[in-house]
Amino acid sequence: MKVEEAPIQEIVLSEEAIQQRVRSLALQVSSDYAENGIHLVAVLKGALVFLADFSRALTIQATLDFMVVSSYQETRSTGEVRILKDLDYPIADRHVLLVEDVIDNGVTIQSLLTTLKLRKPASLKVCTLLDKREKRAAPFQPDYNGFVISNQFVVGYGLDYNERYRNLPYIATLRKEVYEHF
Ligand code: IMP
Ligand code: MG
Repeated sequence: MKVEEAPIQEIVLSEEAIQQRVRSLALQVSSDYAENGIHLVAVLKGALVFLADFSRALTIQATLDFMVVSSYQETRSTGEVRILKDLDYPIADRHVLLVEDVIDNGVTIQSLLTTLKLRKPASLKVCTLLDKREKRAAPFQPDYNGFVISNQFVVGYGLDYNERYRNLPYIATLRKEVYEHF
């Protein structure tokens, strides 16, 4: 099926809007980390597309590492995040920026921060592309965020619905018939 045939309801963030915001975030982060250097830790798979554009727009050198954590459904039911793939490298004494696709109720990020803090990074901050503030279980503010969006389920630019639509270059809602098939 062609990308143009994706069952999109509404484009929430256009490709141009995303690219522009990602570049400006990267410039801000480059200036903030110019002295110390930066170690990017991305949460797969959702943050993959954001990380690819964001890291290439940085004007400072960066190192990258990845984690995989348990799925959204599991996160919801247990309130606790399971690490399916841990980092390849230690983060002790490094300036770590955790890169996320979206912070929703915040359970995933809070749990990751607790785990990573125990490893004694020199600093630990969070950069998320999307911030769904309304859904927060406990107060949490990312250090950097691309866009605040309302409480709606979106796909594209790394975000999926049942593993689909991650490669759309924009962020959109899906037509409601899509969900009725499952
Ligand atoms: P939280 O623990 O509710 O903050 O969960 C965040 C995770 O839920 C993200 O990393 C995504 O994997 C997933 N998620 C939350 N909202 C959406 C969405 O609108 N589309 C796709 N995935 C989402
Ligand atoms: Mg995710």
